[in-house]
Amino acid sequence: MKKKIGVKVLGTGSCFPKKVITNVDLEKIVDTSDEWISTRTGIKERRMSEKDEPTSELALKASLEALKVAGISPKQIDIIIVATITPDMFFPSTACFLQAKLNILSVPAFDLSASCSGFIYGISVAKAFIESGFYKTILLVGADELTKITDWTDRSTCVLFGDGAGAMILSASESNEDILSVFLGADGSYSDLLFLPAGGTRSPATIDTVNEKLHTIKMRGQEVFRVAVPKMVLAAEKALEFSGKRVEDVKLFIPHQANMRIIEAVAKRIGISMDRVFVNIHKTGNISSATTITALDEAIKTGKLKVGDIVELVAFGGGFTWGATVLRV
Ligand code: ACO
Repeated sequence: MKKKIGVKVLGTGSCFPKKVITNVDLEKIVDTSDEWISTRTGIKERRMSEKDEPTSELALKASLEALKVAGISPKQIDIIIVATITPDMFFPSTACFLQAKLNILSVPAFDLSASCSGFIYGISVAKAFIESGFYKTILLVGADELTKITDWTDRSTCVLFGDGAGAMILSASESNEDILSVFLGADGSYSDLLFLPAGGTRSPATIDTVNEKLHTIKMRGQEVFRVAVPKMVLAAEKALEFSGKRVEDVKLFIPHQANMRIIEAVAKRIGISMDRVFVNIHKTGNISSATTITALDEAIKTGKLKVGDIVELVAFGGGFTWGATVLRV
């Protein structure tokens, strides 16, 4: 019988833009306060990319770091997948821009769009590519610049989002299986609760769409909140069940960093104490496709995770989409 090909995680990396926007900075732009933002969301500051710093630039720096940690050269990459909802352009894909920057021309490259669950969707695609024998070594990136699709006059959304990128190198292995399970879900009937109305084929860009700020994120926060908690709980529990692990086996739980109250509610419902939940939302805000991978990378860099530890990533985002993965560091 043909031996099953396993997946090994060779390395991770991340990149944040230099510019920091604090809650106090936002007090000068909209009618808000550090106190409101901190208590309602857990966010204290977020990073903001420069005008001439597109998503592919953050993706490049995160990828170079992941390649260095993995100890391989760009030439060893067989395919590039970038999870993003804020691509450099509609097309070419951000993955193609990244491929050119890495100078690995002719390697296949494509973007994947699943909002904040994008990186976990990406893990599932990468795992399937490796297990099928199609590709051996994959560069998977989660990168977003939400500050560039934010309405800076809307206090209900502009305080929430930030920019950043994270990368992971996954490779075929005969002896390892680091991706123990993945569970994904989606429900398109909720598309009107969290979306970017214009710029696509439904409402192409016009002077009116720009004037009406329809190229920025619209969200009915409370309703999103209500669906996010049960779906993240479902995803976390299903991925654990599929992995054959129990909550006690998970060293660190890394939820999507959208709101501290969502994180606490999900942790409580799945029965994991907050000292085993990784949180960096206070420094990053919500960076959509990049949250879980940048948080994982930080947990590894700061020694919260050691080689062999089991970790669970869980996300929820626009679509709605949700997903979770249990993996070994
Ligand atoms: N500063 C001060 N007051 C504010 C602010 C602000 N920044 N924003 C809203 N308010 C006010 C509202 O106007 C409202 O005032 P009112 O009572 O006089 O009408 C009051 O605060 C309460 O507003 P709510 O919207 O009910 O506040 P809530 O406690 O629900 O918090 C939040 C809002 C933080 C957006 C929350 O609902 C949330 O986090 N939702 C989920 C977001 C999420 O998970 N997104 C998922 C992924 S994002 C993606 O996929 C790209």
